[in-house]
Amino acid sequence: MAGAGPQLSARQKVALEAMAIDVWTPRIELTTPPPPAPAPALAAALAPDDWGTLEREALACTRCVLHQTRTRVVFGVGDRQARWLVIGEAPGADEDRQGEPFVGRAGQLLNEMLRAAGLDREQVYIANILKCRPPDNRDPKPEESASCEGYLQRQIALVQPGLLLAVGRIAAQNLLRQDTPLSSLRGRVHRYGPAGIPLVVTYHPAYLLRSPGQKRKAWEDLCLAMATVPPLRSPVPARVAIDER
Ligand code: URA
Repeated sequence: MAGAGPQLSARQKVALEAMAIDVWTPRIELTTPPPPAPAPALAAALAPDDWGTLEREALACTRCVLHQTRTRVVFGVGDRQARWLVIGEAPGADEDRQGEPFVGRAGQLLNEMLRAAGLDREQVYIANILKCRPPDNRDPKPEESASCEGYLQRQIALVQPGLLLAVGRIAAQNLLRQDTPLSSLRGRVHRYGPAGIPLVVTYHPAYLLRSPGQKRKAWEDLCLAMATVPPLRSPVPARVAIDER
């Protein structure tokens, strides 16, 4: 179906303009039908856990060499009951200093992308494949990703999101355990883990800063994610008092 694109609020249109995307153009091909709601099986399959234990463990982690060069562990941030969980690659210099994911220039663009989807940053949960910065922002090594993956898996189990948004090649390839190029992973809904959580792949905002011509495709990815799992729960209908006398 070649749709006319989602209905956009004035705020979303402003965010799309900030992303330098013409607001009247988005037309997406939704080739993948929305999947059924995921079962919360992943959480049940893991040992009992809680946020406090997990965060304490991550902050004290020495499982890989990156603990020797980090300034701060970048655990994750946002709504712990979010519908969308956004997963990036690894902290950069700004994140390493501040202890929060996506706070640099790429983070500003990620915020714009989320706003275009009708979301404030605080309404999603944001984490990375790695919790510690690789020196000189090099790619994560396989043993570093392997050492860190348990933390992210437990975060996913605790949040129980409706959708994972993998931003960038490293996040997508690690989560999907594939080395397929990012361009081939975009445009369809993947499944993550035993619970089959829907996973959508998009470009990393740092890449979009270098290649702004690709922002339109990132918007198509966000449209696919929105069509798959609306990022906000619909408001609970107000209770109507019924006088049954
Ligand atoms: N890039 C990422 O992938 N994650 C961050 O937290 C910052 C930049």
